[in-house]
Formats: sequence, C-alpha cells, structure tokens
Amino acid sequence: MRKNIVAGNWKMNNDLEETKLLLNELKKQQKKSEAEIMVAPTYISLDSSVKILENSDIEVIAQNMHFANSGAYTGEVSASMLKAIAVNTVILGHSERRSYFNETSELLAKKVDAALANNMRIIFCFGEELNDRKNNNEEEVVASQIERALFHLEASVWDNIVLAYEPVWAIGTGETATPEQAQDMHQFIRKTISNKYSDTVANSISILYGGSVKATNAKEIFSKPDVDGGLIGGASLKAKDFFAIVNAF
Ligand code: PGA
Repeated sequence: MRKNIVAGNWKMNNDLEETKLLLNELKKQQKKSEAEIMVAPTYISLDSSVKILENSDIEVIAQNMHFANSGAYTGEVSASMLKAIAVNTVILGHSERRSYFNETSELLAKKVDAALANNMRIIFCFGEELNDRKNNNEEEVVASQIERALFHLEASVWDNIVLAYEPVWAIGTGETATPEQAQDMHQFIRKTISNKYSDTVANSISILYGGSVKATNAKEIFSKPDVDGGLIGGASLKAKDFFAIVNAF
C-alpha cells in the first residue's frame, strides 16, 4: 500500500546510551503525522529500541541482514533473529553496503527472498554514481539494479517492498538531487515497475528519496507527485532535525 514514509538510517552512529537519549527525545517530540516514521539504530541497540518505542508510532527497523536463517556466518544477523525481537522491516542494498561490503545484486536478491520468506518488509535502496549521471547512464543503472534484485518476484509480494532511490553522489555529501531530478527518476522507476508488472503494482509502491535530505529541502522534494518520503542519514541523528523533515508532509 502506498504511504508516505520517513525513515532515519542512523548507520554506525550512537551507542546504547546515546540511542536511548535520542529515542526518548523522539518520543517526546513526536506529534500525529501523516507519514509513517521509522528509525534504524545499530543491531546492538535494536532490542532496547523496540522496547523504548513500544507505545509510540515510530517503528524500529534494521539496517541490514544475512540471507541465511542461521549457520556459520560469523558476525551476521538473520531475518528470523530480527523477527524474534519484533523488528519487521529491514533496509537492503544501501550504497554503503554495496561499495564497502561488496554486496552485489545477486546477493541482494537472496537477501530479499529471505526477508520476504520471513514476512518482513523491505526498504530496497539503489542509485547511480556520479559518473553514471555524467554519462547520462543513470536510468540504465537504476533499472538494472531493480531488475537484478527484484524482478524475479511475484507481483503479490510487492506489497512488502518500499523502494529508496539514493543517488550515491548525494549521500552524506550535502549535495541533493534537485526536486525535478528526484521526480524524473521516481517517475522512471514507476514506469519500469509498471512495464514489468502492472500500473496497479507501480502505483501502490512507496518510493522514497535519499541523499542529503534536510529540513530546508524536504518540503520541496516531498511535494513531487512520485516522491513518497525519504530515507534520512545525517539529519536523522537529531530529533529536532528529523521531525522538521517528518513535518514537511
Ligand atoms: P544522508 O544519508 O541523508 O546523510 O545523505 C542518506 C542515506 O544514506 O540513506
């Protein structure tokens, strides 16, 4: 179901104490919102975070997971382990996972299958690098990232997928895609989904934009017809900044 979503990706920031402080601040500042609100603390804080946010409208989500359910995968965490602590949504394919941890589309397809097999919702990230855009290749790159990791899926499971377009050149750089660039790409993504599946699937999916979203640019980006919210990195680490973005809806 298409919804407005604002998700905070904390990345490798905030230890347990800092997490508790920020979550309590978020709880205090939260007002009724049109958008679904999510935060992704590190693994080590997930269980406590779920408990702290139990009676709030903020969902705790994971930043990553392994494709296997258990086994000899030192340092990894599985979908069933996340489900066991009531974490029901996972971010997959973030560009930092792709570039620093060599996550390929083939690996991501396996993670997607594992998440869906465990009834998890997925925020699937993708986006072109600066060179792709300079060479006018961004649509080809994005289409291929989506196709290779997601187009083996049946139409019926798309209800559990949220897409996040994050141009790599805009992540953590302070440089944002213009609202028009975001809209053009989101429209292209919806068309790509529609060509493969149907208009119904394409129009039911939430497509988030990510990459240096701040209080000052959120409103304009979110006002675009094919932008259904944002995946927020840096600006999600302060309650005031994060809610200024949530309230842009
Ligand atoms: P940023 O990160 O908002 O700090 O650019 C976005 C992301 O990585 O999801």
